[in-house]
Amino acid sequence: MDRGLIPEDVINRIRDRADIVEVIQAHLSLSKAGQHYKGLCPFHSEKTPSFTVSPSRQMFHCFGCGEGGNVFTFLMKIEGASFPTVVRALGEKLGIRVEEAPASPAAKQRAEQAERLVALNRAAADFFHRTLLDDPAAEPARAYLRDRGITAETIERFGIGYAPQSWDGLLKTLSQAGKGGKGGWATEDLAAAGLIVARDQTGKKPGDASGYYDRFRGRVMLSIRDLQKRIIGFGGRVLDDGVPKYLNSPETPLFRKGRTLYALESAREGIAREDQVVIVEGYFDAIALHQAGLTNVVATLGTALTPEHIEVVRRFTRRVVLLFDPDAAGVRAALRTLDLFLGAGLSVQVGSLPAGDDPDTFIRSRGVEAFTMLVQKAPSLLDFTVAGSLTTDRRGSVEERVRCVEEILGLLQKLSNPVEKAAAIRHVADRLGMEEKVLLERYRSLPRKAASADEAPAAQAEAPLPKDEEVLARLLLHEKLAPEMAAQLAAADFTDPRVRQLIVFALEGRDAQGGQGAIVVNELIARAQEDALCGSIVRALSLSEMPYDDTGAAFRESLKALKLRRLADEIQETKTAQAAAGRAGHAETARTLLLRLNALQQEKQRLLGAGPLPLTEVGSVNA
Ligand code: UTP
Ligand code: MN
Repeated sequence: MDRGLIPEDVINRIRDRADIVEVIQAHLSLSKAGQHYKGLCPFHSEKTPSFTVSPSRQMFHCFGCGEGGNVFTFLMKIEGASFPTVVRALGEKLGIRVEEAPASPAAKQRAEQAERLVALNRAAADFFHRTLLDDPAAEPARAYLRDRGITAETIERFGIGYAPQSWDGLLKTLSQAGKGGKGGWATEDLAAAGLIVARDQTGKKPGDASGYYDRFRGRVMLSIRDLQKRIIGFGGRVLDDGVPKYLNSPETPLFRKGRTLYALESAREGIAREDQVVIVEGYFDAIALHQAGLTNVVATLGTALTPEHIEVVRRFTRRVVLLFDPDAAGVRAALRTLDLFLGAGLSVQVGSLPAGDDPDTFIRSRGVEAFTMLVQKAPSLLDFTVAGSLTTDRRGSVEERVRCVEEILGLLQKLSNPVEKAAAIRHVADRLGMEEKVLLERYRSLPRKAASADEAPAAQAEAPLPKDEEVLARLLLHEKLAPEMAAQLAAADFTDPRVRQLIVFALEGRDAQGGQGAIVVNELIARAQEDALCGSIVRALSLSEMPYDDTGAAFRESLKALKLRRLADEIQETKTAQAAAGRAGHAETARTLLLRLNALQQEKQRLLGAGPLPLTEVGSVNA
């Protein structure tokens, strides 16, 4: 893990002060289960919670996909941020200052630029908002919003603004005076934020503000915010039917359309409360629904839904309602979306509005109740696609219909859950008025597609440990090993590389204490759970229950089983080697191996006859 240049003690202080449950709860919902907390894993798709958080160990682990770690690991994964970034951000929240010292000058520059762009966007949004409220020339914009039924409260809540008609309204204001009388904003930053656009640059000095003009002119301005409520971009709508209807910020270091959902920062509470998200297509659709009190609504930014959008949504809820136009384009969009959602472990419904309506016009003309009804009655995405494919013009020829069936069946291959898949096929057959058997045959005859990316994490889930090794590792990680028991552990006795690594860590820790002391379990877990090889089993075992009444007996029996297993392996190897040496005529080697074999057999008999190993037994047959 890249620790940047942040001092170790600062990192430790932040980790110790943070409450991992609280931090994770800001991203997904957890419920108490015994001494742990459980929730749906945000890192793979699942329907029953196997994502576990331990407040006492300050760590998380998913028993489904093996993902886990400490509070920093969680934040890095979920925010896609670097280690120094999450440490710094968490430190700030906890009032622990982290000295600025990013690893590389380039990274430092990027971080500083991002910080400036956030402040600049804030300043621009304030300018747009003030202009909308105060500028006499903004009257047409105010009238436009009034006509659309947007209230003053909504204008405040969403920070709606207006970009004046002139070519340099924003440019002039922001490049001349910064806040507090400080010098104005640099042209480079204004350009990097996508707020101004370069004219033909010939003959201009770089950075010359006169070479630029405002990107947004004469438009109602909508601020696009991220989950931390930072303004990352803008959408601007014309007041008449000029084109483009909406002008959006370009992609900037802060703004990526494919992972941004408009109004998510305002909707997250509503989404959690309703355990459902409604995804619409337009800015004003989201705004109108929020204004009507439906706060679990977000909008895409004029782009198709992406896997990244789905990842973001999945952190808050598993229940998604999409609102598509019921026309052919809408159905095609739904089909593409079906491809995206299948196997993602989400329940997806598609609501369709009457022709000519969008959510904004619908809620205004029909009211909240009608809208809620429409959402409740929304068919599943699968139903919608099947029904939609049949009712569009493709219905005509039998061939078209068959092609449509195959298209849907092809998508169903992505479903990894066999029960779900069978249900879906039955359902599609039903809808198409076909016999399930016929459809199933068709399905089986389709060329196999590669497994969906979604199945990958589950497939990577940890292979189980040999039982005896698991018992010993578990005891080791639950502070149940007396020093004299621990003294009998040798990494070489274990066959599983993950356990071997754990034993190495344990013995190292003990050696650091003068070689005799007990293994300090907390330190061992903290160290080993970050290890790429054994981290996952360490988290899993230390978070799972301890099922042994008599830990001493469990230890002795497992150690005995382990030694017997090792002996059996060694005996087998020696036998093979001995036979080979005999065939090759190496009499001397063969004789030595035979002696060794006898010794091993005796050792095995002794172990078998000895009952459980006594606690004082030390070393292995090689000792
Ligand atoms: P629509 O064209 O469906 O319009 O665009 P709308 O949302 O109903 O707009 P209003 O009600 O007339 O104001 C849907 C979304 O597509 C993106 C915007 O995000 C818009 O909200 N879009 C549309 C653009 O980015 N650029 C455009 O020129 C048009
Ligand atoms: Mn609209």
